[in-house]
Amino acid sequence: MGKGSGYGKVILFGEHFVVHSIPGVVSAVDSSTDAEVKKATKTNIRDERKTSKGYGEEKRLQQIESIERMLTAMQLDPKLPLDIWIGGSLPGFSGLGASAASSVAIARAISEELGLNLSNEEINAVAYEGEKAYAGNPSGIDNTAATYGGLMWFKKNPAGGQDRVEKIYVKQPVEIVIGSTGKTANTKLMVEGVAERKKKDHEKYDPLFTQAEKLADAGRKALETGDLKKVGELMNENHKILQEIGVSSEELDLLVDMARKHGAIGAKLTGGGGGGCMVALTPDKEVQSKISSAFKTAGYEFLATKIGIQT
Ligand code: MEV
Repeated sequence: MGKGSGYGKVILFGEHFVVHSIPGVVSAVDSSTDAEVKKATKTNIRDERKTSKGYGEEKRLQQIESIERMLTAMQLDPKLPLDIWIGGSLPGFSGLGASAASSVAIARAISEELGLNLSNEEINAVAYEGEKAYAGNPSGIDNTAATYGGLMWFKKNPAGGQDRVEKIYVKQPVEIVIGSTGKTANTKLMVEGVAERKKKDHEKYDPLFTQAEKLADAGRKALETGDLKKVGELMNENHKILQEIGVSSEELDLLVDMARKHGAIGAKLTGGGGGGCMVALTPDKEVQSKISSAFKTAGYEFLATKIGIQT
């Protein structure tokens, strides 16, 4: 039997903009998806992850397509019968990079089961192919975080070659709370929507893209110098431009407001939006538990974790 894991992630700056080669900042979280793969006579997928309602059903076809794409990328028969188990501590909430984490976990498990000995770089490339089933035209930020972990600045290569990935080091890991709206979102449709609106309205979108680039670079600097107040302010600004490009939702805005009211120094949606998750910066255990309790009382699932853990 082959085994593998992939990290979950939270995007601090630049989701959606990264698809268009604007830099983004992403951190792995200390939860991962695990996979086990065995050669079989018939394909069987047992997905035992804790998920938000409807996640499994919504993603089922994309999951099958993703596995077939990955097998093709490994130069194997896309219909190769495999027994696949998926589990681990990362919940299947939209926005946490659960699809990329599972792609990396499955790619690693296949590589081990079939003795392919794929390097991290190869696993990342295979998982990127798998991500296309979920995101259409992914930037690659999710699978890169899922493969390597840590905190990083990421810029997609617009020409399709090697992306730019630079590790960010923080003095110490910082507490966050990730709140889930409980709504499963279709990342592919969200990504396509932004691309279409951008194409139709350059006047509105171009300045927002310029602002997103400035935010990601300033966010990186603020993380490196430990200026968390600044990181929080920049996250709030990032949420505003995500609202402007039409990827927030009433519930995401509600959770963002709730987190700020309970002391978060910054909060924004994270990932594809349209449902899914938001992230609150809470560099203080007390604030972290206050926000967690507020979410729990209001009936929202959450993950209290840290960014900047070295992996
Ligand atoms: C999804 O986690 C992040 C998006 O920017 C899509 C991508 O980068 O592939 C929305």
